[in-house]
Amino acid sequence: MDRSIKPKDPGKSELESQAIRYGIQILNKAHSISKSLKIYDSNNSLVQGLIQSMQDTLQQVFQTEGAASFLLHQDQIFFNQSKLKFSYSSYPIYKYFMEECLKREIGSLQFKSDIQKKDLESFLNAFSKKMEGTPEEVKQFHDTLRRSGTPSISLTKLSIEEKKKRKQLGAKKIYFLSMSHLKDVFKMDEADKKSRMITTKRLIMAIYDNILDDSTFLLGLTTLKNYDDYTLNHCVNVSILALGLGKRLGLDKKELVELGISSFFHDIGKVSLPIEILNKPGKLDEEERKIIETHPLRGAEQLVSMLQEGIVTPKAINVAMEHHAVSGSRGYPRYVKKKNIDIFSKIVKIVDVFDALTTKRPYRKKDFTREEALNILLDSDPEDYDPLILKMFAGMIGICPVGTLVLLNTDELAIVFEASPTSAEMLRPRVKLITDSDKRKIDGDIVDLTEKTPEGRAKRSIVKSLDPADYDIRIADYFMEHIS
Ligand SMILES: [Fe+2]
Ligand SMILES: [Fe+2]
Repeated sequence: MDRSIKPKDPGKSELESQAIRYGIQILNKAHSISKSLKIYDSNNSLVQGLIQSMQDTLQQVFQTEGAASFLLHQDQIFFNQSKLKFSYSSYPIYKYFMEECLKREIGSLQFKSDIQKKDLESFLNAFSKKMEGTPEEVKQFHDTLRRSGTPSISLTKLSIEEKKKRKQLGAKKIYFLSMSHLKDVFKMDEADKKSRMITTKRLIMAIYDNILDDSTFLLGLTTLKNYDDYTLNHCVNVSILALGLGKRLGLDKKELVELGISSFFHDIGKVSLPIEILNKPGKLDEEERKIIETHPLRGAEQLVSMLQEGIVTPKAINVAMEHHAVSGSRGYPRYVKKKNIDIFSKIVKIVDVFDALTTKRPYRKKDFTREEALNILLDSDPEDYDPLILKMFAGMIGICPVGTLVLLNTDELAIVFEASPTSAEMLRPRVKLITDSDKRKIDGDIVDLTEKTPEGRAKRSIVKSLDPADYDIRIADYFMEHIS
């Protein structure tokens, strides 16, 4: 290998910094025009002057660079193939352009050398309109441009892969925002209760949107277990799992949001319990057990005050009160009659136990794999859980739950990343390869187990599922790494 130090190519780096300067200059102008269009219409002389100036810059760019195109790739903006670098002061321009392009699903934007002022005007008008990024709005944006015709500007849409990556990044962000938000809510004082609860609703709405779109990834994130913040982590996981299950049960949007909020707070009563008891390694004594069993009532009491302020609905109180109710003497509080239990409590009860079983706790020697936890639920006393809801939950988690470590017939180890969409192919999900056939760790591809060889045989099949602890593997790390 040639290890000699080569002189830097001054021509190349200079050209690159020129492209970067031009790229930022154009975005800067587009940003100013967009801001002005929020106040004036496009005939206004100031707006017209700005558009003219942007056209002049573009023409200048064509003379020196020969092209003017922007490309969005994994959180980065490229101009004529040079990655744009933004400073602290130019960051708002990056954020503006990135967000507006993503809302409109724009993957690249190309100006042609005969750039017309009227095309710029039509494009910037459509680009400046306030929008949320719903599929209808995206369609309308592209239809409008097609109708008005902007031959000197062409757009390409985001690739499916890029869109998927975006959603996953979004899911990860929502997950961590929910954790830190819940921490704030748990220690909140009266004064900022209301504003915090508006955030709760927004976060639950974001989880709802994400689950509606593609639940697999967000469900995969519930493999994340934070032992230090167990209660917070557990509440976020329970909320995501409950929303996924509620969706399968056919609840409508309003009900799902209510379910999301109620499950978010199901253990709020634990916040005031002594941490030494919550995290006690080993069995609780009678006294300690009684204290733990006060959390449904404590939670309900806390939620009553939130109910009076219209922050939560009575459903949240039911869920806090009833999520440990079982027939006979096993559940608590004892006086909750199993017959009258709210459907939301029945949902939360199942996902609550599932998340608890799959999390290592100081008082239990072993945490269970997702598959084992599901089997424990399915084997329990038929009186304990609503059979229909449990069946739906088993369907959601699947025979091969997302996050399961599996051994393939190729001797490779893999993690289930995406459940298979059809029940006929339940044992053929999409998996990420994490070791080679000699069990050496690799950053392998995500492969589809429905893939066949030219002879029509399956390329890979699952032999059995394994316990990640036996292989010193943290499943959540793979979900995190995949998108960071
Ligand atoms: Fe609980
Ligand atoms: Fe819980």
